[in-house]
Amino acid sequence: MIVAVDGPAAAGKGTLARRLAAHFGLAYLDTGSLYRAVGLRVLRAGANPDDTVAAEAAARGLTPADLTDPELRAEATGAVASKVAAQPAVRAALLQFQRDFARNPPAGAKGAVLDGRDIGTVVIPDADRKLFVTASPEERARRRWAELGAKAPPLAEVERTMAERDRRDQERAAAPLKPAPDAFLLDTSDLDIDAAFAAAKAYISGANTSGTN
Ligand code: DC
Repeated sequence: MIVAVDGPAAAGKGTLARRLAAHFGLAYLDTGSLYRAVGLRVLRAGANPDDTVAAEAAARGLTPADLTDPELRAEATGAVASKVAAQPAVRAALLQFQRDFARNPPAGAKGAVLDGRDIGTVVIPDADRKLFVTASPEERARRRWAELGAKAPPLAEVERTMAERDRRDQERAAAPLKPAPDAFLLDTSDLDIDAAFAAAKAYISGANTSGTN
């Protein structure tokens, strides 16, 4: 069983994907953390995120330790991740790892949940279930702002940087963010995590195949 969970930043897909994986006994891969780790490596090497050679080298040199870096979740890391993610060579370097994880999940799990932007469209186009999780831009910015707590910049700035990141992720030529034609669309704007989980669980269990929540 392979479940693809795609969607824009702060739509709730990470929390949802983690919870679905635990519920269905599946392994979980946050593919955004791979792009974040590449972005951090590029910055720490003193290179520019738009430097294709440096970004591809960073992607090919990724180690498990890179994926536990505390800086991974920082807002600035999300922005640089979105820049390196626009480069086809970076995406190509990370593709096989994601496919291997899905096909041969660790610790004997009987399948996997992968969350990202292009799981249902490019990484695993034949995934058993595909969810596209979204929410209004205002609600996503508000959630991210609340998450950042005391460190949060003004809400308007979070809205602006999120809109920039959405634009970059949607408009790039390589594997842009978009729902797979056969994805189940889950709009979480008016749903709390329990309600979003219930809708996703019903879809994965086959109880709701209508295409939207
Ligand atoms: O999900 P996230 O916010 O951690 O992702 C960070 C960036 O990585 C996101 O803005 C675009 C990129 N990304 C991607 O291009 N493809 C993926 N499958 C996952 C993330």
